[in-house]
Amino acid sequence: MIIRPRRLRRTQALRDMVRETALSVKDLIYPMFVRCGTGVCDPIPSMPGQFHYSVDTIAEEMESIRDSGIPAVLLFGLPDRKDATGSRSCAADGVVQQAVAAIKRRTPDLTVITDVCLCEYTDHGHCGVLKDGNVDNDATVEILARQAVTHADAGVDLVAPSDMMDGRVAAIRRSLDNAGYQDIGILSYAVKYASAFYGPFREAAECAPQFGDRSAYQMDPGNAREGVKEALLDVEEGADMIMVKPALPYLDVIRRVREVSLLPVAAYNVSGEYAMIKAAEERCWIDGPRVMMETLLSIKRAGADLIITYFAREAAAILGRG
Ligand code: PBG
Repeated sequence: MIIRPRRLRRTQALRDMVRETALSVKDLIYPMFVRCGTGVCDPIPSMPGQFHYSVDTIAEEMESIRDSGIPAVLLFGLPDRKDATGSRSCAADGVVQQAVAAIKRRTPDLTVITDVCLCEYTDHGHCGVLKDGNVDNDATVEILARQAVTHADAGVDLVAPSDMMDGRVAAIRRSLDNAGYQDIGILSYAVKYASAFYGPFREAAECAPQFGDRSAYQMDPGNAREGVKEALLDVEEGADMIMVKPALPYLDVIRRVREVSLLPVAAYNVSGEYAMIKAAEERCWIDGPRVMMETLLSIKRAGADLIITYFAREAAAILGRG
């Protein structure tokens, strides 16, 4: 007798019945960029289909995002000026703080998450403040903890620290609690690799390091066991959700993190993963929408509960409101 797995592939109805992984619009988080000015909606050349918005235009976008069924956005800010300590990252009238408040006024039911980091705000482009040419961990953590509170003041739902300093989740948790924000959560970029896949983002966020690279704080791409260690540390420090980033080159790490933690796991389908698909689609080398859906499904299958992706709007249009 032959075992015939093909029996269950015979019709679409059968295939639907036995499909193990389902992707839903509710799994998606849409990353967006906000800068100073008004009326801004400028295409980002390295990320076709993505834009720089100003506070007014980003708030206007939110109704259509919410109506498409996408539950959450992740905001990145490009400040009016940069300095050595990234001081504009903690300003009550900073661009992200203003955007959070504007979005929450207009679409309070949309979940707003903010990236907490210094690289967009420092003139040297590193994710922390420098001491003798190195990123000073503990001095940086103090600033990040203050930054998180200013986001909470503006009305954010979750803060997402992406800097990879040691001990920052505990410090942010403590300062949120001390400021009375016990209910504001932390989505930690727990397992973040020093990756070349961030290239298009660094152009979009104007945050490429002016010297050296980020290998002294982001993780070595060869290390999966260390990824598990980083994830468990952030759970211990009080993270509410943990993230693996990038997604596609690290599906094995997503799976391992999923298996060791009971928290929701997010994966960041980063700018380079997005740009590669867009570029190949432009050349008619691949069927863009199909490759997009297969990519997102693979990240879900690997174990991610949530996917942060620039494809969110395009995927939502295919998935429906769910
Ligand atoms: C740092 C940050 C980066 C990304 C998100 N947060 C860049 C970096 O670490 O260099 C990359 C996101 C992407 O590539 O889509 N604040």
